[in-house]
Amino acid sequence: MSLSAQAVEIVAHRGFSSRAPENTVASFNLAWEQGADACELDLYLTADGEIAVLHDADTKRTTKVSKIVKDSTMADLQTLDAGSFKSKAYAGEKIPTLKEALATMPIGKKRFLLEVKCGPEVVPVLAKQLALWKLRAPQLCIIAFDRQVAQECKKAMPWIKVYRLSSEKENKQPVDLTQLIADTKADGLDGLDLGLKWKWSEAMVKEIKDAGLELHVWTVNRAGDARRLAELGVDGITTDDPVMVREAIEKK
Ligand code: G3P
Ligand code: CA
Repeated sequence: MSLSAQAVEIVAHRGFSSRAPENTVASFNLAWEQGADACELDLYLTADGEIAVLHDADTKRTTKVSKIVKDSTMADLQTLDAGSFKSKAYAGEKIPTLKEALATMPIGKKRFLLEVKCGPEVVPVLAKQLALWKLRAPQLCIIAFDRQVAQECKKAMPWIKVYRLSSEKENKQPVDLTQLIADTKADGLDGLDLGLKWKWSEAMVKEIKDAGLELHVWTVNRAGDARRLAELGVDGITTDDPVMVREAIEKK
């Protein structure tokens, strides 16, 4: 069977993070240049009420300097080098603000999936910043593991799609898919964004789609997994290598 690459949204995880430093402007620009349909990013609130784009609550892993994001100002964070840990070629890349990251997105069909990594304290700030994007609402989607965060985002920004993230286990216990679907519907959310380790099957995808939810899967870094998920009919695949996934699902 020939799979339609059009039907599956290919999401560059933290930008084109297999080639460029994750969650940087360089990583997002490379993803757009290389034909990703969307980029995913992670966000936190800073001490001075800005929104910073990075994966960890501390800057140590990606900058080699330890600063707690919630206790730092955005200006402090932007003194750090968030590129060299990946390659010298990216020395001097900064931790972007959400505004700087969003500014990379081409006008049109591309979109950003914004993962809220901190608590609900960021929601009013996020709502204020994203209000400027109302005319480009289809180009945004908020994702969150935390149920309260997802609920509050949807309440504050009903015009933006919100997906609930979930691993297959929570506190070492298997997550009940039927309950997760029911919660997601009760919260008025638009979709689920599930980890690759779930036991994927036609029945599972059908249950989610029959509930009227969109379905994305993360983080898919093998061609065989990408092909199988595309065949099962998922709506989106998040990957560190969007070029590999496109080749995999376009392969006849
Ligand atoms: O797209 C969801 C995925 O990014 C969640 O995992 O740890 O990479 O933020 P993580
Ligand atoms: Ca993420």
